[in-house]
Amino acid sequence: MDPRRIVVAVSGGIAAYKAPELVRVLTGAGHLVRCVLTREAPRFVSPLVLETLSQQPAGDDLFDSRSGEIDHIAVADWAELIIVAPTTANLIAKLAHGITDDLVTAVILATRAPVLIAPAMNVNMWEDEITQRNLALLRDRGFETVGPDAGELACGWQGEGRMSDPGVIAEAAYRVLTAPSLHGQRVIVTAGGTSEPIDAVRSITNRSSGKMGFAIAAEAARRGATVVLVAGETPLATPTGVERVAVSSALQMHEVVLRELASAQVVIKAAAVADFRPRQTSERKIKKEDLGPDAGLQIDLVRNPDILADVCREVKQTGGRQVVVGFAAESHDVIPAAQRKLERKGCDLIVANDVSRTDAGFNVDENAVSFIWPEGEIEELALLPKARVAAELLDRVEKLLGENA
Ligand code: PMT
Repeated sequence: MDPRRIVVAVSGGIAAYKAPELVRVLTGAGHLVRCVLTREAPRFVSPLVLETLSQQPAGDDLFDSRSGEIDHIAVADWAELIIVAPTTANLIAKLAHGITDDLVTAVILATRAPVLIAPAMNVNMWEDEITQRNLALLRDRGFETVGPDAGELACGWQGEGRMSDPGVIAEAAYRVLTAPSLHGQRVIVTAGGTSEPIDAVRSITNRSSGKMGFAIAAEAARRGATVVLVAGETPLATPTGVERVAVSSALQMHEVVLRELASAQVVIKAAAVADFRPRQTSERKIKKEDLGPDAGLQIDLVRNPDILADVCREVKQTGGRQVVVGFAAESHDVIPAAQRKLERKGCDLIVANDVSRTDAGFNVDENAVSFIWPEGEIEELALLPKARVAAELLDRVEKLLGENA
């Protein structure tokens, strides 16, 4: 996402200690951040910390005109988004009823920007009818919410009331800032490597971490799509708003993708699917002693179905209008090999990446891809974060959807 101007408003609750981390996440992603605090917030978090991390003045005084730097209207107008983290029950009540007795409430009432609140409080305060009614008023006025999560609370109670983690709040913020250009579209994304069992403990797999596919799923969800992420074995957290279907082998991935195809408008195959699997799988661990002193193990491999090719064939046979995107992981002759793959499999677009690089491709946060089009056009992108590659790819997918409409 291009850098955006984000105000982080902090109110006086114990979860305020997480506000500096939120600022760090946002500035780390290149966004410009300014912080405003309620009068009580500095009891929980130092404005100096917020100033240092945001590189901007952080104030809590509505009437502070020393330098004119913290002027509530200027801050309200500057913001493209206001995140309130944490949002206490008191602040929810004030915002719901238009009370503007401090800098935070004044900035929020004055802004035309969207407001995202991250509530944090004791579970009983959260569940109290008055809090829920105030919250409903805010939602009616277009306020967005993230959390609270359930768990152990600082006050010792268990239940809902924990402020969401800064990464989750940032993700919710990006959703608010992203136009819902894929609203109404169902997108299947495959990600990660498949694992082809040899015996009870061994398998054939590859170095795919799933990062590329997960980034695509997250961006599609941000754009308002309904996303089904068919993921191989990876410890990556499921992106917010994404339905994850966990699979292990290529056969399982094949079954899920073909099953979901009819109800989807887009299929993006970023998974690294094993082309072969052992013909036989032993339910028990194969023991060296059973093979003889120096004997190796011969594994007979059979071909896995080509999921991408089967998807393309099915779309053609049924006269479907799905946009189908494949990836090509190549270690040499990247572009010609990807062009051949595009023709062989019959998809709308192939994303080629050179997996011999150590700074791109497998298991790193960045990728350097080329978009290979059926008409022969090649678009070469620079080395970019996978989230940015995902955004570039989905821009092209949206164009294809427009042409198919
Ligand atoms: O997961 P990361 O660590 O982030 O790494 C990202 C990535 C390098 C895995 C990703 O960018 C990528 O290139 N994914 C495709 C890997 C791959 O299997 O490429 P391939 O050239 O072998 O296959 C071509 C296409 O056919 C792919 O879309 C693949 O999903 C699909 N395929 C392949 C074999 C098969 N049996 N069925 C398939 O559907």
